Amino acid sequence: MKLALLVAVLPAFSAFAVDSDKSNRSLPPAANRKVEFISEIYPIFHAACIPCHGPEKQKGKYRMDTREGAFKLTSDHGPAIAPKESAKSAIVLMMAGQIDEMLMPPPGGKPGESDPLTAEQIGLIRAWIDQGAEWPGGPISLQRKPIGFAAHIQPVLKQFCSECHSGASGQGGFQVDSLASVLRGGENYGKAVIPKDPGHSPLLTIVGGKDEDIPKPEKHRLPDKTVELIREWIQSGAPE
Ligand code: HEC
Ligand code: HEC
Repeated sequence: MKLALLVAVLPAFSAFAVDSDKSNRSLPPAANRKVEFISEIYPIFHAACIPCHGPEKQKGKYRMDTREGAFKLTSDHGPAIAPKESAKSAIVLMMAGQIDEMLMPPPGGKPGESDPLTAEQIGLIRAWIDQGAEWPGGPISLQRKPIGFAAHIQPVLKQFCSECHSGASGQGGFQVDSLASVLRGGENYGKAVIPKDPGHSPLLTIVGGKDEDIPKPEKHRLPDKTVELIREWIQSGAPE
């Protein structure tokens, strides 16, 4: 509507504006490799689009958290996703700023809601569409990155425990210096971690405040969120 009015009033000017817009933002090329939807594409939609096109808001009557919603015909710009034809898919054209006044995410949103997609992200989405735009039925649960000892667990143990459990003088012979020493445990409790069995892992009982015999309980109790992280790590096999 707004554009039609401009065209009627200022034909020369608006034609120029559309042209320069398109040449400034050309369509980034599709990535040249096989792309995986759940781990690579959906997380981009989840972060950049679903805040406005999901269960809570459906701006422009469009929602991307379901297959039926995501593949719909847009009101003015053809199919949102045209399998095997990324250059004809409205979402690609919109993300790349090729449709006037329909740059997605739109500028001027709340902090973090308007960051434009990178050429690399658009290239991945193009490759996914060109490879057939596979989208499994049913709700999509995002796979979280696995919890690892070095990345997630050791920093916590270092911060809260190394004061008393580092090196040869570690209390009760328990040391948090390496994955091996944490698994090995100490003199009284033996193995501190039984991989895949958080319920029988003394480490979890102790940091969860459920061990009544441990000395200095206040030094052993960790916040609930951290206890939960350690529980998930043990449950997943206590990986490096
Ligand atoms: C901050 C909110 C916001 C975000 C984030 C956002 N959009 Fe939109 N989107 C809108 C609004 C508002 C409209 C309606 C615009 C209009 O019709 O003028 C819209 C419309 C659309 C439409 C047109 C639907 C139709 O039937 O016409 C598509 C397709 C779309 N968005 C795709 C996306 C994609 C893909 C992303 C992520 C890369 C995204 N949007 C991110 C707000 C947003
Ligand atoms: C202020 C010192 C202190 C801090 C901090 C501390 N502990 Fe301890 N911890 C002890 C003492 C004392 C013992 C009992 C040693 C003994 O029985 O000889 C102990 C025992 C243990 C044991 C049993 C070892 C065995 O004998 O088998 C484990 C496991 C353990 N602590 C884990 C932790 C963890 C995990 C943290 C960090 C969240 C932590 N501790 C923080 C002092 C501390």
